[in-house]
Amino acid sequence: MQIGIIGTGRIASGVGQRLIKAGHAVFFGSRDASKAQTAAQAIGAQGGTQAEAVSFGEVIILAIPFGSVAEVVSELPGLKGKIVIETANDFQGTDPLSTTERVQALLPDSKVVKAFNHIFSQVIANPAAQGLTAFIAGNDSAAKAVVKTLLEDIGFEVVDVGGAKEAMHLDHLVRFIVFLGYDHGMGTDLAFKLVKV
Ligand SMILES: NC(=O)c1ccc[n+]([C@@H]2O[C@H](COP(=O)([O-])OP(=O)(O)OC[C@H]3O[C@@H](n4cnc5c(N)ncnc54)[C@H](OP(=O)(O)O)[C@@H]3O)[C@@H](O)[C@H]2O)c1
Repeated sequence: MQIGIIGTGRIASGVGQRLIKAGHAVFFGSRDASKAQTAAQAIGAQGGTQAEAVSFGEVIILAIPFGSVAEVVSELPGLKGKIVIETANDFQGTDPLSTTERVQALLPDSKVVKAFNHIFSQVIANPAAQGLTAFIAGNDSAAKAVVKTLLEDIGFEVVDVGGAKEAMHLDHLVRFIVFLGYDHGMGTDLAFKLVKV
């Protein structure tokens, strides 16, 4: 598939590398097109503006800080009708709505799916990280099926936890793994694997 990634940071680079290795085409979109081109060259992707990434992608990944999502998406009308994977964490959040409900409200005509938020970028960037659990959530079942396939292509086992409302569980889950990784000193080479016995 053609994937447009908004952002050129740790998540963009890790996810981009894994998708390219799996045979997908990736286009990084940045506030600074030359920065995106440099980041893209390093992994065999393409790069340019955020609008170009949206135009390129059948699926768009928002790999930007939660606090910047509203402003960034307001300037990208091309997101209408597309599958939008949002990866953001709102650690300040006391909002009763999940991050995904809030992003879906900003993009009522897009199919928003939560993914990657609870997986450290270090793990995502490691091609040896296979068979780990990637939780997803979102309101559109067809969009989630596409995202599930993409995640499976890069080696994750996918667990769909429900709609945008249930993404609240993933908002909580990330706090736990950040606690384990940083406060509890276990490091960021850590990930979840859900096992049914
Ligand atoms: N790091 C992790 O382990 C991790 C794990 C799971 C989820 N996440 C989530 O994934 C998202 C991206 O995290 P990251 O670690 O990749 O962050 P990062 O390394 O700081 O990169 C964020 C990228 O967002 C872009 N951006 C666009 N608008 C921005 C704005 N107004 N202010 C700042 N940056 C802006 C920047 O790209 P340009 O400068 O090229 O525009 C930047 O490269 C966040 O929402 C984070 O919560 C992170």
